[in-house]
Amino acid sequence: MNARAAEGRTPLLGPRAGGTLADAFRDAARGWTTGVAVVTARHGDEVFAKTVSSLCTLSLDPLLVSVAVSARSPLAGAVRADGRYAVSVLAGHQEPLARHFAAPGAGRALTAFTVAPTRTEATGAPVLEDCLAWFDCRLHTVLPGGDHAVLVGRVTAADAGPGDPLVYHRGGYRALAPPPLPSREP
Ligand SMILES: Cc1cc2nc3c(=O)[nH]c(=O)nc-3n(C[C@H](O)[C@H](O)[C@H](O)COP(=O)(O)O)c2cc1C
Repeated sequence: MNARAAEGRTPLLGPRAGGTLADAFRDAARGWTTGVAVVTARHGDEVFAKTVSSLCTLSLDPLLVSVAVSARSPLAGAVRADGRYAVSVLAGHQEPLARHFAAPGAGRALTAFTVAPTRTEATGAPVLEDCLAWFDCRLHTVLPGGDHAVLVGRVTAADAGPGDPLVYHRGGYRALAPPPLPSREP
């Protein structure tokens, strides 16, 4: 699909003629394949969670990760207030969790999530059980990012286990295809 657009220059050539730059932005963004993670935090008696695809392993020295979360979300408020959070990278079998924590309002509960057991590691933030990998963070900086807040976290503990990731592409969840068989020399 031709989804080219430039600010102040619509309509466009091709099937997307008449589309806005924001439409083209969304189409382009759907072509970016990511893993899927859940950001979790605790504040007072409440726990918070949000499905994200914006995880970035930002820096090795110091050890930093970032996630961009909607600036007005309850989770962003909890992280700002508490200063600790975790990012759990979902495995292929955890699509139901990704869907659950992407539903508006579903990522907020008293004391604990009924759909997902958690544990604590270094900071005391909830970490989802049975994930492919996790990062436990202390909030380092919050950067402005338009309607999102970029949470930069200093990693205080992290680990990974075996398994395949949950993948997100063009608005749908996918699994990794097995690697192609090595070609045989004639
Ligand atoms: C695969 C996937 C990735 C997402 N990535 C992000 C993200 O990086 N940042 C974000 O703020 N929202 C992201 N969302 C949307 C949030 O998960 C969703 O809007 C939010 O959890 C709704 O809950 P709330 O209204 O209680 O905040 C993503 C959703 C899906 C399905």
